[in-house]
Amino acid sequence: MDKDNRHATTSFPPARILGIETSCDETAAAIVENGRALLSSVVTSQIDLHAKYGGVFPEVASRQHILTIYGVVEQALQQAHMSLKDIDAIAVTRGPGLAGSLVVGVNYAKGLALAEGLPLIGVNHLEGHIYSAWVYPVDVVEPPPAPRFPLLALLISGGHSELNLMYDHLTYEHLGATLDDAAGEAFDKVARLLGLPYPGGPAIQKAAINGNPHAFNFPRARLEGSWNFSFSGLKTAVLRVVRQFEAKKQELPVEDLAASFQAAVVDVLVTKTFQAARKYKAKEILVAGGVSANRAVRTAFLEQNEFPVHIPALSLCTDNAAMIAAAGYFRYALGKHDSLDMDVLPTWPLLPIEGRGSA
Ligand SMILES: Nc1ncnc2c1ncn2[C@@H]1O[C@H](COP(=O)(O)OP(=O)(O)OP(=O)(O)O)[C@@H](O)[C@H]1O
Ligand SMILES: [Mg+2]
Repeated sequence: MDKDNRHATTSFPPARILGIETSCDETAAAIVENGRALLSSVVTSQIDLHAKYGGVFPEVASRQHILTIYGVVEQALQQAHMSLKDIDAIAVTRGPGLAGSLVVGVNYAKGLALAEGLPLIGVNHLEGHIYSAWVYPVDVVEPPPAPRFPLLALLISGGHSELNLMYDHLTYEHLGATLDDAAGEAFDKVARLLGLPYPGGPAIQKAAINGNPHAFNFPRARLEGSWNFSFSGLKTAVLRVVRQFEAKKQELPVEDLAASFQAAVVDVLVTKTFQAARKYKAKEILVAGGVSANRAVRTAFLEQNEFPVHIPALSLCTDNAAMIAAAGYFRYALGKHDSLDMDVLPTWPLLPIEGRGSA
């Protein structure tokens, strides 16, 4: 299959990357061309398997990855009408995540790389979330604009909430992070308090549609003087209201509580991100991670004229392998290959490049 010049990424060599993601409870594979053009993406979720445990059961997750990974990778190749002969490198999530889950993807990627004589690229899952914001379907008429640096990246996922200043591809300055719960975790915990199903983010978004965001004046932890976040006080404030209603045996106003909670989270995320973008003279803002799927979050960032905003397609906000292939492409293009004795890094933070285990 010919490589399409329309999708070339300025000054980087053309390449098709097969991405593999198994950091938690999704087994995913995808093929991305030149770091941005999506040729295929397959994601299988284990949510139903873990529901009875009330969270992800690590051993169940890793064994399920073993059962699914072969079929998922085959499907990604078929969707793109390709074989491994059309692929230039294998990118795989090396961390952070559950060790037993990461090991399945990493070993599978090693097997493919060895068998096909392809470079192996270990990718940071958080870097993957960031790169998801620039991925677009290969058949678009006009590819959306590429990033302009410096860029302020807000990462809001199930396990992380952080602000990073990005100076160039793969080059970050960490500004701040949550001191307690991640934004997605706060959505999940508050959903449980309100009797809503897991994952809590989509459930709260749905309940909030008919709720009044001003019904409860929940606290906004601004943490002035730092770029950190804190969501545990907000969660406790919701709990206190829930207890008051329970004590009075009154029906819980779930829709108003969901809308008011969501408004408080959005307010804090937007305020701090814009403050940081102004302070560091960022040219653009990027928002990524599962919580970037939230409609109120998207509206707040997209319906303003101060900064251009990159935000992933809805299907690429939560875990997927397109983001791993996309980030992997830039590591590949910059010659950052890994060896076949690469280990997983379950607690790998998104650090400046000098601090990386594999750089
Ligand atoms: N529409 C939504 N509104 C708010 N939150 C959402 C929405 N959709 C998903 N989420 C939240 O996103 C989180 C999942 O995102 P993601 O897959 O990026 O996290 P993760 O991979 O578990 O964590 P990490 O990437 O930090 O390791 C969950 O907490 C979920 O509730
Ligand atoms: Mg994730």
